[in-house]
Amino acid sequence: MMAEQKATNVTWHEGEVTREDRNRLLGQKGATLWFTGLSGSGKSTVAVAVEQALFQRGKLSYRLDGDNIRLGINKNLGFSAEDRTENIRRIGEIAKLFVDSGVIALSSFISPYRADRDEVRKLHLESEFAFIEIFVDCSLAEAEARDPKGLYKKARAGEIKNFTGIDDPYEAPTQAEIHLHTDKMTLEEEVDVIINYLEQHGFIVS
Ligand code: ADX
Repeated sequence: MMAEQKATNVTWHEGEVTREDRNRLLGQKGATLWFTGLSGSGKSTVAVAVEQALFQRGKLSYRLDGDNIRLGINKNLGFSAEDRTENIRRIGEIAKLFVDSGVIALSSFISPYRADRDEVRKLHLESEFAFIEIFVDCSLAEAEARDPKGLYKKARAGEIKNFTGIDDPYEAPTQAEIHLHTDKMTLEEEVDVIINYLEQHGFIVS
């Protein structure tokens, strides 16, 4: 669902420095890497490692992370379907701003609904921004065994309602650009897959 445009009489104002200028300045091409997967699947871990690998190559990326964003701009949103949709819509728009600036946005949110992710993809493609969906695939059993924040335990005990994978859905991507099996691959292998993708598609030249 598209959010309603409430403000009237607003128009986009172009500057004198273009997206291409900014990409040239940074020596890279902006893109959104959209990590999606269950809580505890490894989204943030992979994003942190990719950020570091890019930094070592002299490439600028910036992480947008579920827990961090929910402590700030999205602090007024919870975990109902509507709030998750609005959470993802806002992050999608923020990611677009980063891509426009030439930065590689590393966005890690459960983003459980396919329609919400597809909407962000559409918004990117309309503006000719690259959207690379990365399925951080991990079985529920494994994510629950890891339980890094102890939240699955709480969800099983009924202390957290609507917890993704327990009593709330997760709709796996069907056409992700990159599919990582974090219960079978090493972190190093996962980073290599992503860096190779960015090189092969001309976002970075190492
Ligand atoms: S999303 O569904 O809207 O994409 P997001 O990635 O921002 O979720 O936030 C997920 C994080 O919020 C989880 O890693 C977990 O730490 C915390 N959390 C708290 N309550 C829930 C819940 N009911 N379902 C999922 N995650 C929750």
